[in-house]
Amino acid sequence: MGENQDEVHLLAGSAMWLAPREVCGLRALIDSAAQVAGRVVFHSPVAGDLHRHLARVNFYADLPGNVEITQPVPALNRRDRRERLLELARIRTTCDVGALYGRVSDIARGQFGTGSAAARACATAVAAAMENAIEHADSPIGALVSAQRYHGTGLELAVVDLGRGIPATLRQNPSHRGLSDLDAVQHALEDGVSSVQEQGRGAGLAALVHDVGRAGQATLRLSSGAAELTLGWDAGLASVNQSIPASHVRGTWIAVRLDA
Ligand SMILES: Nc1ncnc2c1ncn2[C@@H]1O[C@H](COP(=O)(O)OP(=O)(O)O)[C@@H](O)[C@H]1O
Ligand SMILES: [Mg+2]
Repeated sequence: MGENQDEVHLLAGSAMWLAPREVCGLRALIDSAAQVAGRVVFHSPVAGDLHRHLARVNFYADLPGNVEITQPVPALNRRDRRERLLELARIRTTCDVGALYGRVSDIARGQFGTGSAAARACATAVAAAMENAIEHADSPIGALVSAQRYHGTGLELAVVDLGRGIPATLRQNPSHRGLSDLDAVQHALEDGVSSVQEQGRGAGLAALVHDVGRAGQATLRLSSGAAELTLGWDAGLASVNQSIPASHVRGTWIAVRLDA
């Protein structure tokens, strides 16, 4: 997807399944394409279930005027799924984070039970990722958040922005200037590591890792620039997997997966 193209096509026709991270990412790509192209065509999933799922999570809501979808958006018979689903939401300010904190808490409570520490930790962790997107990303489309609980299998939450990315912002701090993208993302997870040279900064991502890590069986996936980090926890054992994605990841894509 380049700048100033006349027409951009986003192909999701053959998709069979989209988790919150992909739902956020796809919609973010549509919105950003719409800012630079005259016309954007979204080839929606041919699989009817998935197309309806996208409608249900408000993926097709408030699309920019120059975006076309290849299939009509289905009319929905809305049920209250507040405990299962956080429809795609956009955050631009800290007020938005406050409003969404309650929704994320509802879903986490549904997963872990009312008053559970894991539920609170989960909502706080996601709020830290949202705050970072507002403070550091400078994303042209803001950040997108979405969450879903799956019957019997767990919960996934995602925060995606298309901004400057973790490596680029962190390297602004002279102490972290020479880091590769992978080292920068890994380093950003440590307590006290920040692009901002101020006492007390750099606790957000460290808290995210800490909180997800004590939620039992869990996965935290962060992709930004030329770096992808997957941290996993299973029965008290932690693992880290680092890789360089096939293509540069624009912005910062974070997904938290908590297994039931
Ligand atoms: N969404 C993001 N976009 C760009 N940079 C980010 C993002 N999230 C985190 N970062 C980078 O990671 C660093 C560490 O983040 P964090 O641990 O929350 O500490 P703080 O926000 O206090 O700097 C930030 O200073 C920033 O450089
Ligand atoms: Mg922060």
